[in-house]
Amino acid sequence: MSDWLTIALPKGRVLRAVAPLLARAGADLGVLLADDRSLVRETPAARLRFLLLKPDDVPTYVEYGAADLGVCGRDVLMERACDLYQPLDLGVGRCRMVVAGVIGRSEPKGVPRVATKYPRTAAAHFARRGMQVDVVTVHGSVELAPLVGLADLIVDLVETGATLSQNGLEERTVIARISSVLVANRAAYKLRQERIRPVVDGIRSSVAAPSNAPPALEADGRSG
Ligand code: PRP
Repeated sequence: MSDWLTIALPKGRVLRAVAPLLARAGADLGVLLADDRSLVRETPAARLRFLLLKPDDVPTYVEYGAADLGVCGRDVLMERACDLYQPLDLGVGRCRMVVAGVIGRSEPKGVPRVATKYPRTAAAHFARRGMQVDVVTVHGSVELAPLVGLADLIVDLVETGATLSQNGLEERTVIARISSVLVANRAAYKLRQERIRPVVDGIRSSVAAPSNAPPALEADGRSG
């Protein structure tokens, strides 16, 4: 078996937040963060291969063994039923999943409609509260939905709160605290322990060292 390790990463903000943590495990940051369209980035000296994916696809690549490790948000893990080992919370991409609505507008008399990128999580949240809702799935710009009559409420991620406030929305309930986590293919984690453990330990020591995770990078990272 090749001793290369494959790590699935979400493209975008979380990648920039996670990259410094991966440097401790041997990743070449210049290659990892290069501004080009290549989807596979390698650091041969450390025998590390990185796959750059849409955040929602990271669990799929890791679960099917196309990647040994991956980084994904707890929001994605909550929404998807994945059988993945989760050895480490990376402490980046921090935000919260909330229910939000139009400022000052009370909920409608009938069954409220809820727009979200997280239909399963939203449905489970309202079911737990004994509330009947009609969940509508959208794939982005969720805050628009209540402004144009598509929905009464949204379930979405909030980091700074700027998107909510700039669209006249307010937070009603926090469903979950979100951050990025390291996930591992269960079989690989067992069978390739000697190869994987030092990499996980390198990332863990980087997470534990505040100087390696400057606040600016954390603020820039968002799960999703
Ligand atoms: C995310 C999220 C919110 C926004 C929250 O969207 O879905 O819309 O960020 O951030 P804030 O509280 O700091 O304003 P993203 O920018 O990923 O784009 P999307 O709307 O296409 O999902």
